[in-house]
Amino acid sequence: MDSIPLVHNKNIVLGVCGGIAAYKVADLASKLTQAGAQVDVILTESATKFVGPVTFAAVTGRSALTTDDLWRHDQHVPHVQLGEKADLLIIAPATANTLAKLAHGQADNLLTVTALAARCPIMVVPAMDGGMWSNAATQANVSILRERGFHFVGPALGRMASGLIGEGRMVEPSEILGFARVVLGAKGPLAGRKIVVSAGGTHEAIDPVRFIGNRSSGKQGFAIAQAAIDRGAEVTLIVGAVTLPTPYGAQRIDVESAQPMCEAVVAACREADALIMAAAVADFQAAHLADHKIKKTRDTVEFEVHLTRTPDILQAVKEQKESIGKPQITIGFAAETQNLIDHALAKLHAKGLDLIVANDVSATDAGFAVDTNRVTFIGAGGGVEPLALMSKAQVAERVLDRLIKLLG
Ligand code: CTP
Repeated sequence: MDSIPLVHNKNIVLGVCGGIAAYKVADLASKLTQAGAQVDVILTESATKFVGPVTFAAVTGRSALTTDDLWRHDQHVPHVQLGEKADLLIIAPATANTLAKLAHGQADNLLTVTALAARCPIMVVPAMDGGMWSNAATQANVSILRERGFHFVGPALGRMASGLIGEGRMVEPSEILGFARVVLGAKGPLAGRKIVVSAGGTHEAIDPVRFIGNRSSGKQGFAIAQAAIDRGAEVTLIVGAVTLPTPYGAQRIDVESAQPMCEAVVAACREADALIMAAAVADFQAAHLADHKIKKTRDTVEFEVHLTRTPDILQAVKEQKESIGKPQITIGFAAETQNLIDHALAKLHAKGLDLIVANDVSATDAGFAVDTNRVTFIGAGGGVEPLALMSKAQVAERVLDRLIKLLG
């Protein structure tokens, strides 16, 4: 996993309680560490019955703490130190017992005493039997904690350790990491900003089973959406035919073809500060959609599909911007296989963009489907900035840096 700039060098305290999901939290500790965080793990006594401190120390590279560390004579108020320096406290799995203690300010182990001392946001990831979760006592404790600003993630619906199906499963570590990014980024430079991002290719149907599509994987657009969330933006992600997991915190709208994508983008932009149009929109659609599957007959040797233009979404957004001033900033992409700069400049001007991100999609290490990209930024003033080959996540970071400057 790549280092995540938002998470890099952050102090994250990870409190682990006694539930079977504790074994999955070792994976979360590993993911946070790989993302660049300094992760201090605190285990409650019952957590150690499921996973030992050695496991967490091995994945974080730091010693994992238990309540015994509270009483060590060479430790000076470890709970206050941990609580003071933490950027985020995550409690996973959070048991009904620990939720009750937190709600009532009890502080009888290193985790609960650290939670009381903490000045940072606290994320709670409950996991327990469904009956324990829905119990009125637990729900009352949850309400108290929510009111105090604790961030709850889950629990999810699914199979629990008891074998029963219900609401009580801990959400998966990748989703907990996604939520942590929302919480850590909440006060970022794009806090309060609404950003629309489009991603993926569109499918233009010919008949009920066939379509015209393109090779776009959606990876660059999804990375941009995640980078915007990391900076505190409220993100609407409008997605063509792509099945990638939604970045936590994004409002996702799935569309199939260019026409509904145009309607969704224009509607979302009415309220938006910026649009980043990373989708690979088909330029042509079938003039007539066959009602039934087109059959080949013995004498069909040639077959013609009559095509008409799809709407140019950025043109539609430009017209809206001219009439209502929204979105303030528009960033487009240019997928080219020749004359990169000339073609991209022409698109920048024709579509009224503030910035265009041009990429040579014929290169094998950049563009469609791969995890890397080599792009050139061209600003409305004509400034050309070629970037080196980098991951799509890094390109996304750079696009967002430019957006923040453009928004002023
Ligand atoms: N785009 C759009 N509506 C379309 C086609 C493209 O809004 N119907 C957007 C893309 O999302 C991208 C930019 O326009 O941000 C440039 O897309 P690209 O496919 O490179 O160029 P086209 O405008 O389609 O022109 P051409 O196919 O002739 O290169």
